[in-house]
Amino acid sequence: MKPYVICHMLGSVDGRIKQNIWGFKDHHKYFEETAAKIKADAWLVGRVTMEEFSSKRKPAAPAKRVVVPKEDFVGKLSKTYAVVIDPSGKCYWDTNMVSTEHVIEVLTERVSSSYLQHLREKQVSYVFGGQDTLDLALVLRKLNKLFNIKTVRIDGGGHVNGSFLKAGLIDEFSLVLAPVADGTIGQPTVFEAEEGFGRRKATQFTLKSVKRIYKDFLWLRYLVVKGKTKR
Ligand SMILES: NC(=O)c1ccc[n+]([C@@H]2O[C@H](COP(=O)([O-])OP(=O)(O)OC[C@H]3O[C@@H](n4cnc5c(N)ncnc54)[C@H](OP(=O)(O)O)[C@@H]3O)[C@@H](O)[C@H]2O)c1
Repeated sequence: MKPYVICHMLGSVDGRIKQNIWGFKDHHKYFEETAAKIKADAWLVGRVTMEEFSSKRKPAAPAKRVVVPKEDFVGKLSKTYAVVIDPSGKCYWDTNMVSTEHVIEVLTERVSSSYLQHLREKQVSYVFGGQDTLDLALVLRKLNKLFNIKTVRIDGGGHVNGSFLKAGLIDEFSLVLAPVADGTIGQPTVFEAEEGFGRRKATQFTLKSVKRIYKDFLWLRYLVVKGKTKR
């Protein structure tokens, strides 16, 4: 079974997502307080975003190298999970938790045995989503089957959102629209799916709800119109 997928983001009016120059105090609260109102069994982010939460130190190479089979590994079952799309294994861990969520790494078979040894030692769970590239539909099915995840909240950044959008796997989009124009050329936007105009059609939404929050912000909830994103 495919879990229900809600993408949740804080964006400027021009769709930028990095908040370096926005100038809000407590800028985390605009994202987090709204995210907390969306019930989900897991949140999922891209490797770049997860590096804000994972270990800053690369561990020393294991004293004894062993060949670890490229098979899914369940380190722990939990009520809630933090999932990272990390195809070549760049995130390192001191613990298998981010706050109250158990960490699941989504990998390709390109990762080394010593990286898998590191994850096993820390009891971080991992699933394989493909040999060289990720089959995101397969990844979602594995998250459901192995961890009983029924609803996933994708929390960015733009590249991970874009790849799930392009694969037609997002059911709902939740946008906290910040009252700010960013204008920084070349920085990630809410959805980074593809360069130029390809054969892909833009994804259409219908409005589920709209709410004015924090005085000048809008919280927009959309449902994806299905069957409009396929090539
Ligand atoms: N405003 C908000 O609500 C919000 C929310 C979250 C994050 N952010 C910000 O967004 C920025 C990061 O965004 P980002 O778009 O640069 O990065 P990102 O989406 O967090 O991570 C991108 C990376 O994830 C991996 N990845 C994602 N989809 C993949 C796929 N289909 N197949 C293989 N690998 C895949 C790749 O890792 P490899 O490079 O290792 O191959 C890729 O480079 C940060 O500054 C963060 O603070 C903002």
